Amino acid sequence: MVTVTKNFEILQPDDWHVHFREGDMLHMVTNYSSRINNRCIAMPNTIEPITNTIKAKSYKKKIEQASKYNFNPLIPCYLTENLDSNDFRLGLQNGIFFGAKLYPTNATTNSKKGITDLSKIYNLFEILEEENSPLLIHGEKVSENIDIFDREQTFIDEELKKIRNTFQNLKIVLEHVSTAYGVNYIKENKNIAGTITPHHMLLTKKDVFFDDKINPHHYCMPVVKNETDLIELRNAASQNNNKFFLGTDSAPHHTRDKTYDLSSKPGIFSAPCSIELYAEIFEQENALDKLETFASINGPIFYGLPINSSKIKLQKKEWIVPEISRYKDIEVKNFYANKKINWKVAN
Ligand code: NCD
Ligand code: ZN
Repeated sequence: MVTVTKNFEILQPDDWHVHFREGDMLHMVTNYSSRINNRCIAMPNTIEPITNTIKAKSYKKKIEQASKYNFNPLIPCYLTENLDSNDFRLGLQNGIFFGAKLYPTNATTNSKKGITDLSKIYNLFEILEEENSPLLIHGEKVSENIDIFDREQTFIDEELKKIRNTFQNLKIVLEHVSTAYGVNYIKENKNIAGTITPHHMLLTKKDVFFDDKINPHHYCMPVVKNETDLIELRNAASQNNNKFFLGTDSAPHHTRDKTYDLSSKPGIFSAPCSIELYAEIFEQENALDKLETFASINGPIFYGLPINSSKIKLQKKEWIVPEISRYKDIEVKNFYANKKINWKVAN
């Protein structure tokens, strides 16, 4: 029986999947994440993707400079079919890259330069394995004949199983796992973990797809699925399984890029309320005492990094998530806009 119901503390979390973007957007969003987390994996799908060490160093510096708080952005290399493999290896060896991110071509925002034929980058997987660096995967197979709801399962069956069998010592993270099938695959295989977003534990496809339009503020990749998937994700996160950890996939887009059809940019901006939403979900699962394991312990253990030693305090306190985040010309609709949350991080 869970007894925690009032204020409580947890070890400082890390966000193992977040989009900081560039320019004014970067300035607007960075502190939402750095106010809470010690480390964040800053996804490399910027407009010019982070494909070499020079770009990675400069991007890391920009994020650090935008933050009011001390924190550590980690930058994975964006994998392409014509990467400079020497620069890649050196970047991993010198800690400039934190592993690498695989985006299948056109699977999501800024993935045009991603990978169409995975066999072309098996040499890069080999380097990752040799350098004991993680492979972070956007696990969706995209083609005209694959239904949008089947992309994750098809990727696992047709691509991930092959990678897993070929590089058995390679640490893999199936990012923003969205299906019961994906959860089970992670549970049953070695050296693979998954990040879970708040929105995949709060929404189903009924919240996104309507007869002739979509709700673009609930539209993300991978798209949210069925109730049965949502339940499996909630169980995986909240039942102390060490293969699952926090990755918000907070992915801001300007409101003008959010249209009410499938041409909308996918991505949900949850950073202003992400840890609070996780607390809300864990409370609903009667598992607030497991939040720390998911948010602050499983990630560093999987990645072989130290667990943070400072703490953050969560207060039981109702607040309403503001509708919009604004900075200069930037305007982004917040996830959970105008809704009530029962938890708030103390300053
Ligand atoms: C992300 C983005 O906007 O960069 N979008 C999304 O729907 N999740 C990219 C990604 O993580 O797939
Ligand atoms: Zn993402």
